[in-house]
Amino acid sequence: MALLDDVETELRAAIASAVTDTLTVPSADQFDDDPLLRRSDFADLQANFALALARRVGVPPRDLAAAVVDRLAASTTMRDLEVSGPGFVNLSLTDSALVTEVTALLGGPSPFTLTADGARDVVVIDYSAPNVAKQMHVGHLRSTIIGDVLCRVLDHLGHTVIRRNHIGDWGTPFGMLIAQLVDEGIDGDADLDIAALTDLYQRARAHFDGDADFAETARGWVVKLQAGDPTARSLWQALVRQSARYFNEVYDLLDVLLTDDDIRGESAYDDDLDDVVEELQRLGLLVEHEGALCMFLDGFTNRDGEPLPLIVRKSDGGYGYAATDLAAIRRRVREEGATRILYVVGLPQHLHLSMVFAAATAAGWLAEGQRAEHVAFGSVLGDDGKILRTRAGAPVRLIELLSSAVERADHEVAIRHEDWDDAQRAEIARAVGIGAVKFADLANDRRNDYRFDLDRMVATVGATGPYLQYARARISSILNRANDHGIDLTAAVPDGVGFETESERALALELSHIRHALLDVADNLEPHHLCRGLLDVAAAFSAFYEHSPVVKADSGIRELRIALCRATERVLTSGLELLGIRSPDEI
Ligand code: ARG
Repeated sequence: MALLDDVETELRAAIASAVTDTLTVPSADQFDDDPLLRRSDFADLQANFALALARRVGVPPRDLAAAVVDRLAASTTMRDLEVSGPGFVNLSLTDSALVTEVTALLGGPSPFTLTADGARDVVVIDYSAPNVAKQMHVGHLRSTIIGDVLCRVLDHLGHTVIRRNHIGDWGTPFGMLIAQLVDEGIDGDADLDIAALTDLYQRARAHFDGDADFAETARGWVVKLQAGDPTARSLWQALVRQSARYFNEVYDLLDVLLTDDDIRGESAYDDDLDDVVEELQRLGLLVEHEGALCMFLDGFTNRDGEPLPLIVRKSDGGYGYAATDLAAIRRRVREEGATRILYVVGLPQHLHLSMVFAAATAAGWLAEGQRAEHVAFGSVLGDDGKILRTRAGAPVRLIELLSSAVERADHEVAIRHEDWDDAQRAEIARAVGIGAVKFADLANDRRNDYRFDLDRMVATVGATGPYLQYARARISSILNRANDHGIDLTAAVPDGVGFETESERALALELSHIRHALLDVADNLEPHHLCRGLLDVAAAFSAFYEHSPVVKADSGIRELRIALCRATERVLTSGLELLGIRSPDEI
């Protein structure tokens, strides 16, 4: 168990004892779910329980807090306990507890898996989800990056993670695309890159809008495609295959976990749609409204306060986005065993997803112990503070955006390492440039918009990915140097050795918080907690290293300082890996 968990347990026992000994309350379990500890400006931590609990049991909060402090006088993990303000308890951690914690971070497969606690979920994560024959845009970039971290973190914490790439590979546009391919005599073996695909899309769209006969033919192809006509199928497959090749190029560049096996496009649910309608029909949940089959769900109204329908089947008998999402939930719960489904999708789709979740709940597909959550995110803005676009006003092409980050990083790396050859520089530039983009995206609260500012992102100073990469590389080289001096890096910290400087202690304290930062990511689906925690650790390391020589230190404190270096390196390496960011030895 990690130190902060031990502290919590000890505090809870003291509170339970204070409550049951001095007051007539049968159980102190009632406050079990409240967050107990937070960081404090006046001590290491502040415990905040007395206000709520005292009200419930009818004693002054300060008296209750004092009773708890009394009971912790002999604690070996906490010292300097003190009642403060209306009934907070300020406390500090003992040096010996912090040293033990630092040492614990060095053991086990990862510094983040100190305990095996809590229930395990089967989590389906729906993310990335670009559309066939279209460029990916920055919204897909955010979804891909954030979804990737959630996959890594939840997997690391022992949950079963099922990655799902819900690509847009079905529906009316495909009739139009197939008709255009046939019209131009392009067959399924043609080599179409993403530029050719998007051009095709535009020609098809113009043709469709301007030529009624063509539009009719296109609609005919949709019907044929749905009926499994071989020509329609093979042309459609070609479009999907060629697009997937482009998606994979982006995923490769981004170092994300997604593979072709994770693709379950909208088409994957086509066979389920009639049955979804039938089941909803049987449950009496469908209402005919202007020819369409709809669900009306409690709490969803339009601007005029009229009930807002969720259209399950359109008036022409076709199915749309909502029907597919309903079929997907049903399959994820029933067949894939999901207990938690995460949708990493931009904020504008919040209403849609909320209605789909409410519909699935009404149908009993999401029951007790199964939850669906919208992991919403804001927009990426350009220099002008508006949604990022090219100068011509077109959406920015992701490959170009990422290439420009790598280019900028290459420039920076070239300044730092004039002696490197091209291949070496290119490899590090890629790690730095992509790491910079990912970290900049992840370090903000995901709901906020952020400005795509390459200069700031690739800098090795400030709250950036390259800063963390640099800090980690520096610590490795410090450790290597110590090793070269014949120092045993694995020597245990001798008993009784404590901190000599405040900055050593401050680093240990930051390290003791890092696992909780990871739990915050998992609980709130907010990667920025881990980013901030790593930045705090790296900053505390800098201050520590400025004041505390390692190689030249006397035995005793030297082992402690080496342990601090190693724990920091381990935390930064694992942390970056969980963020999907590479850790080169030099940047
Ligand atoms: N393809 C959609 C888009 O580009 C995103 C799909 C999100 N996932 C879902 N299950 N609806 O906007």
